[in-house]
Amino acid sequence: MSELSVDHLLGIRGLTRDDLELIFKTASEFKEVLNRPIKKVPSLRDLTVANLFFENSTRTRLSFELAQKRLSADVVNFSAASSSVKKGETLVDTVNNILAMKVDMVVMRHPHPGAHHFLSGKVSTTIINAGDGTHEHPTQALLDAFSLREKLGNDLEGKRIAIVGDIRHSRVALSNILALKLLGAEVRVCGPATLIPKHMISMGVEISHDLDETLIWADVVNMLRIQLERQGDANSIPFFPSIREYTMNFGLTQERLNRLDKQLTILHPGPINRGVEISSEIADSDHSLILNQVENGVATRMAVMYLLAKR
Ligand code: CP
Repeated sequence: MSELSVDHLLGIRGLTRDDLELIFKTASEFKEVLNRPIKKVPSLRDLTVANLFFENSTRTRLSFELAQKRLSADVVNFSAASSSVKKGETLVDTVNNILAMKVDMVVMRHPHPGAHHFLSGKVSTTIINAGDGTHEHPTQALLDAFSLREKLGNDLEGKRIAIVGDIRHSRVALSNILALKLLGAEVRVCGPATLIPKHMISMGVEISHDLDETLIWADVVNMLRIQLERQGDANSIPFFPSIREYTMNFGLTQERLNRLDKQLTILHPGPINRGVEISSEIADSDHSLILNQVENGVATRMAVMYLLAKR
């Protein structure tokens, strides 16, 4: 197979296992390019890509922009905070105005789940989801799986991967579950009951509220940050009593890892709340793939844009 089965990357849902394998193979080729002295190829020389960020980002935004530049695309960046969205312009009008300037592909992060699906039915361009609210973050899941395959080997069949923390508010969790299940891994989510949504039961994943038991079960732990910005206002009922209690029950510490008779591989999508869901000692340890994930994000996003442009 040399082509993706989709015209947009709206989510991991909708992709096939063959799509994932093609993206990983292409990303490996681009990673080899990124390790050369001249890190640039002309693959998207005639393409103009707009990065539309309606929500904050460090890693995803810079990673997409670098990937576009490494592929020789022309790039324009849009930040909602300094745009005419503030004057009341709709999403469709904003995007159609940008497309009128002869833009070929849109990479978008938006706070509303489903914004990309909505947009793909309204405008005529290739759309890549760089995160839609609490729904999906497909390129994060792709780069996470790519990083795991580098570390554990290409076959993730039967590997036990625990996703720990604020599952309720995490787009990374849903995309990771979908990708890892497609690749044959066993997946467990672990966190306080209030932060694990009921629909997880129908996703074929195990559910646990006990981090220590989960660490015994797992080969890999993907630690998610508490999304403090999505925990509601001061009048809402909190999802957990205090940060201190959350860390006592669900924080990954060296003390916890020392009780195991094995080495776990540690993932975190970033940004990290050091000392909350993960200690600095672990985040910076040899078993943490955090910076490998960031490095692999560029090659993975190059692969996604290249393969979608081919269609
Ligand atoms: N992992 C991730 O999406 O990070 P940013 O929010 O900084 O893009």
